[in-house]
Amino acid sequence: MAAPELSSIDGHVAIVTGATAGIGQACAERFAAEGAKVAIVGRNRAAGERILGEIQNAGGEALFLAGECADAGDMREVASAVDDAWGRVDILVNCAGGFLDAPDIEDVTDEMWAKGLDWNINTKFLITREVVPLMKRNSYGRVVNISSVAGRTGSRNASLDYATGKAAVVGFTRRLAAELGPSGITVNAVAPGLVRSPRVERHSEEHLAQRAASTPVRRLGTPAELAHAILYLSTPGAGFTTGAVLDVNGGAWIG
Ligand SMILES: NC(=O)c1ccc[n+]([C@@H]2O[C@H](COP(=O)([O-])OP(=O)(O)OC[C@H]3O[C@@H](n4cnc5c(N)ncnc54)[C@H](OP(=O)(O)O)[C@@H]3O)[C@@H](O)[C@H]2O)c1
Repeated sequence: MAAPELSSIDGHVAIVTGATAGIGQACAERFAAEGAKVAIVGRNRAAGERILGEIQNAGGEALFLAGECADAGDMREVASAVDDAWGRVDILVNCAGGFLDAPDIEDVTDEMWAKGLDWNINTKFLITREVVPLMKRNSYGRVVNISSVAGRTGSRNASLDYATGKAAVVGFTRRLAAELGPSGITVNAVAPGLVRSPRVERHSEEHLAQRAASTPVRRLGTPAELAHAILYLSTPGAGFTTGAVLDVNGGAWIG
């Protein structure tokens, strides 16, 4: 059995962006069940309030902070609201991200390109910039950035801006890990494969079955499996792991 001081996040303060659905929601719920105080960050107020209520009804401690993660002012407010409420931040999970369509390059508009990078890399930079000084105060922190198998391979199903943004998440992670290691802060990335989140559930079952068939484990992942991997990287015991990319994609990374 792992020593509790290595595996427990009981009492830790966590911010999870993109926590109003899918992987981020599963992560917020799992962290709260493990005894962490969780700030749920997302744009959808109705979903955020509902998830907050569910966590509180289960005996957990949480806050819902509505915000656009690609907006610097909103992210400044999120960090200061968490600091005001709980006086520290131990864990930051940067989950907000996504894409809409995946056209060929000739049809990628300026707006799509800018939005893709905004959603998938700027969302990580803006909140991390605000949270790192709070982590430095305690010489401790765990940052987990959600990339994608699309940032690791030539995933033709993803949009060009998304694949580019998700590859940038890996560079951001490594560079920041090198900078923050001496401050007791680890920075790692998780690269999910196709996971049954609300975004993915919008595809036809036929399409999802085809995608599952081309994955070594022959199935899609679940948000709970991603939350489990993110939890490991968020524990004190993961302190010797930094700048890593954890492939939680059923082997899609190896083809
Ligand atoms: N599911 C997959 O197959 C898969 C595969 C690889 C990587 N990923 C990555 O994993 C992460 C979660 O994906 P998911 O499938 O769980 O997505 P999802 O079901 O679409 O949920 C995404 C959540 O992120 C929030 N969000 C997105 N952009 C945001 C922004 N700019 N500001 C604030 N909130 C934002 C959404 O919030 P609102 O609804 O409140 O706007 C929603 O709660 C994403 O980064 C995605 O790229 C997912």
